[in-house]
Order: sequence, then structure tokens, then C-alpha cells
Amino acid sequence: TDLAHIRNFSIVAHIDHGKSTLADRLIQETGTVQDRDMKEQLLDSMDIERERGITIKANTVRIDYTADNGEQYVLNLIDTPGHVDFAYEVSRSMRAVEGSLLVVDSTQGVEAQTLANVYQAIDADHEIVPVLNKIDLPASDCDRVAEQIEDVIGIDASGAIRVSAKTGVGIHETLEAIVHHLPAPKGERDAPLKAMLVDSWYDAYLGVIVLVRIMDGVLKKGMRVKFMSNGTLHHVDRVGVFRPGMQMVDSLGPGEIGFLTASIKQVRDTRVGDTITNDRNGAEKALPGFKPAQPVVFCGLFPVDSAEFEDLRDAIDKLALNDASFSFEMETSAALGFGFRCGFLGLLHLEVIRDRIEREYDIELITTAPSVVYHVYMKDGTKHELHNPADMPDLSKVDHLEEPRIKATILVPDEYLGDVLKLCQDRRGIQLDLSYAGQRAMVVYDLPLNEVVFDFYDRLKSVTKGYASFDYQMTGYRQDYLVKMSILVNDEPVDALSVMVHRDRAETRGRAMCEKLKELIPRHMFKIPIQAAIGGKVIARETLSALRKDVTAKCYGGDATRKRKLLDKQKAGKKKMRQFGKVDIPQEAFISALKMD
Ligand code: GTP
Repeated sequence: TDLAHIRNFSIVAHIDHGKSTLADRLIQETGTVQDRDMKEQLLDSMDIERERGITIKANTVRIDYTADNGEQYVLNLIDTPGHVDFAYEVSRSMRAVEGSLLVVDSTQGVEAQTLANVYQAIDADHEIVPVLNKIDLPASDCDRVAEQIEDVIGIDASGAIRVSAKTGVGIHETLEAIVHHLPAPKGERDAPLKAMLVDSWYDAYLGVIVLVRIMDGVLKKGMRVKFMSNGTLHHVDRVGVFRPGMQMVDSLGPGEIGFLTASIKQVRDTRVGDTITNDRNGAEKALPGFKPAQPVVFCGLFPVDSAEFEDLRDAIDKLALNDASFSFEMETSAALGFGFRCGFLGLLHLEVIRDRIEREYDIELITTAPSVVYHVYMKDGTKHELHNPADMPDLSKVDHLEEPRIKATILVPDEYLGDVLKLCQDRRGIQLDLSYAGQRAMVVYDLPLNEVVFDFYDRLKSVTKGYASFDYQMTGYRQDYLVKMSILVNDEPVDALSVMVHRDRAETRGRAMCEKLKELIPRHMFKIPIQAAIGGKVIARETLSALRKDVTAKCYGGDATRKRKLLDKQKAGKKKMRQFGKVDIPQEAFISALKMD
């Protein structure tokens, strides 16, 4: 296809504003998929994505469209992940296309993720077409939302297309706008190959599939290519496009988006953002801005039943095959036995992996408290990265610590603003900005990431009844007074419950954790002290009194079946416990103990 008849675009939207539904409609309207093959939300391929209604892996589809002017166009849609954890993948996908549809729910208005993603689109020099969705709903207010887009984002929204992805109104206009308002790609056919690696994933039959955008040159089946970040050479055995099923082609030229396979075994060997070129006389300079995604949140994953350790290893190996941004290494915990210390791009990423292990591999897990990566500066001048509070070196040898900070943007209706400011203040936040757009306030805070990884998002949702939206980006590291707080249960330290805290918050946090644990740990035949300590000094203490709850006490009379049932139930409840010395601690305690109310 010649460049003038190609349009490459992505759709940016806040979660639930209708991105997937709109994409499905565009595909359907152009007859790319027969109606009877059309499954809801075609682009969200993984079940878990469908269930949670979030898009995780970038996905793509090639659409043939005959415009009103009679000309044939090829439209390539790259679906971008909507969640903040995947910001780097979003930015790569954006670099692979020239324009974006900005989809805003006309009953809701602009949200924090809309902003984060649209700024990425603006950064990538996109032409942006605003689309107001859900106009079939009575609460739709297009004028207000268009005005808000102009106020908050600063782009012209007077020509915004009014759409219902549900009924199909405005879909034709959207296709025409893609053709007429978005620019055609540029590129040189005769130059050495320069293809951007946009995404990759593992396929059981074909091995690793690499999604590419051709910038210059031609990618052909049978050629040898070089991945510029690590110099590896590969023989290209297939080239193709998604429509949305795979269709093989002989070659892809400048401006085109498609995939290659090259007998690559692991997703790890392909890096998002890398440049692929000819093995000989290739491009001299790689495309700018390449950086491997770095995990920012770490936690331990341990099997509840230690006999399942090998199964867990298997599950983790398989998941890692398809997810280069998920890192892991073996970990031994005095309390929890063998497990893995895993690194994630963010909390959602953590949750997704954990859920998949539990569900797809049927392994019950204990997840330890998520921790961010601290920089530890030693008195001897060396510097370490701390991924696990349990590895915190002896305080006498430590000079100082630095923790990662974020810039958080929160959009919230006026009436909840006070609660949001209080929450941010409580989490050691520093206010950077506060402005208004209509009935909504936009607050920007500088916050320590460690105050956010745990339950910030849950708290934000609960204090604003779900009306706030939130997004963040990492800004860098800053020194602060941080200490490791240990928890002792029955005088034994439970390393999986250690956390890093700010010294000023330690007493409050310690007290809250001890109180929570007292509620969560069942009573035993003996008294159990629960303590929080910093370097051997106890700062909070609770005591769980001795008393064994006799679950059969209520069954007077000789109802044997009922008695049996209750005992079985008690046994099942026990399964989710883990023994620490003489004490059984339930699995949920490891997460719940850290939630702050
Ligand atoms: P993520 O994949 O989570 O980013 O969400 P999304 O932006 O892709 O939203 P999705 O397409 O899943 O739509 C969210 C919800 O809104 C779904 O329940 C859709 O059925 C509904 N929806 C989407 N478009 C419309 C519309 O035009 N009108 C109405 N009434 N509902 C719509």
C-alpha cells in the first residue's frame, strides 16, 4: 500500500469510556470480521482482561476501508493498555502511530487516565480527533464535555464526533475523520530497514510473535534481521498482519504495522521499543527513546502449601515467558519457606499475575506486603537497591536511604476535595497544584510511592464513593527518614510482615498493624503477644488472650451430622493458615494487616 492510503492510529480513553466497544464497531462497520464471528470486545483477548474490563497487552488490527471519496484505505489500529502500570507500553504504541481518537464518555467527562494518555499522544506529536461516546444515554451532555476537553486538555473540541459505540451512531463519521484528519505516515522504502518493536507475546504454536511498525525499508519473509539493543540476529520465518486473525503476507513496507516470527523462544529476548534492522548494512542509528521497562513494586509469592513450590515455579516460568516486565528470583523466608521475590510494573500488574497463578494454575498463595525499591547508601560509600525489607542491612552501617516519589494527578468532584486532600496529606504528600474544571477539581501531588502501593487507590475510591480518578508517574528518588519495622508474633519475628516506614509514622502504623493482626489471628490455647519493633525496640504491642473457640459448643443434643459439618468447616478454614512457630496465621493477614483505615 502506498503511504498516502495508510492511516495508523490508537484510541485513548479512560477505563470504561468505551474504547473496546468503539474498536469493535469500527471493525464491524468495515466488514473486517463477519458479524457472526464478532464476539464482544474482540481486542481484549485474554479472559482475565475481559473479566476485569481492562486492556493489558497492546493489540492491533488492520482494517480495509473504502471512504466516501471512493478511495481504498488501510487503517491500522493499535490498542493501547489503559492502565498507568503500563505507561511505557503506551508510550511505545503511541510512537508507532500518527494519530489518536480521544474517546470521552459524554455522561462522565475527562478523567485522570484520559489526561495521562492524551499527554502521551501529544508528546508523540499526534493529530487528535475527539470522540464523545455514549450519546444514547440520557445523561449524555456533549456540550459540557466538549468544553471541558478544551479547558483541561487545551485542544479544539468544537468538531468532536458524537458517537454511540453501542447503537452505531457516528461510526461512519469516525472512519471518515480518521481518513481526513489524521496524517499519512512517512518513511523511505529504499532506506535500510528500521522497524520498531511495539510489543511481543508468546504463542504456543509460533513461538514469540513480534508486533512491529515499519519506519523505513521493507521487512520480508526469509531475511535476516538484527535487534539493535542486544545485537542478536534472527531469521524471519513469517511476516503477517492482524485482521484481527493472523494473515501471512510476503512483506511489510514503510508505514505498515504487522508482525514477524523468527523462532524466538522467550519474550525476554525481545524488548519493547527496540529497533529491528538488516543484519548487514543495517541502520546506523536506532530509533530514539528505547528503555527496558523496570519493575517498581516487589513482593514475595509463597505457596500456602509448601508441597506446591515446584508447581509455583512452573507457573511463574510460564507466565514470565510471556511477560518480560515481570521479574522473579527465588526467596527463602524463615516464616514462609521457599517462594519467589517478584517484581512488577505496578499494583495492577501484581494483582493480575497473582490472580492468574491462583486461577489458571490453582495454587493458593501468600502474598507478602508490596514494597518499592529503596536506594540504600552505606557508610562505606557503597549503594544498594533494596527490594525486600527483610534484606535491610544493619542500621549502624547505613548512612541514609532514598525512596521513589511520584507525581499523582487526581480528578474529583468538588464535594470530595477535602477528603482527598486529607488523604494525600496523611500519606506524606506535598501539594503541587490545585485547579478547577467545571464541577471538578484537579489536584496534583508529590507523593512517596511507598504510601501509594498499598491501599491508596482503594482508600481514594472509598472516600470519594468511586468518583475520583487517579494516575501517576515516577519522578525520582529523594532522601527521607525511613526505617524497617518488624512484627513479632509470640516473640518470633515474622519476616514476611516487615515493612519500611517513615520514622514519624512508625508508631501509628505499628499500632494499627498489631491491632489488625489481633483481629485476624485466631485465638490459641496460650496467650500470644503481637509486637511491632524497630531495631529491637518495641514500639507497639497487643496481646491475644488464650481461649480456644469451641465451634461445636452450639450443638447441644446429639446432632452428629451437624457436628461433623462444623468440624469439616473448621478444617477447611485451617487450610488457609500457615504455622509460625506455634502460631497459625491466616493467609489474608499478610495483606490485611497493612491496610490503614
Ligand atoms: P477498558 O477496556 O477497561 O479500558 O474499557 P473500555 O474503555 O474499552 O470500555 P468498554 O468498551 O469496555 O465499555 C465500557 C462499558 O460501557 C461497557 O459496559 C460498554 O457496553 C459500555 N458502552 C460502551 N460504549 C457505549 C455507548 O455508546 N453507549 C452505552 N450506553 N454504553 C456503552
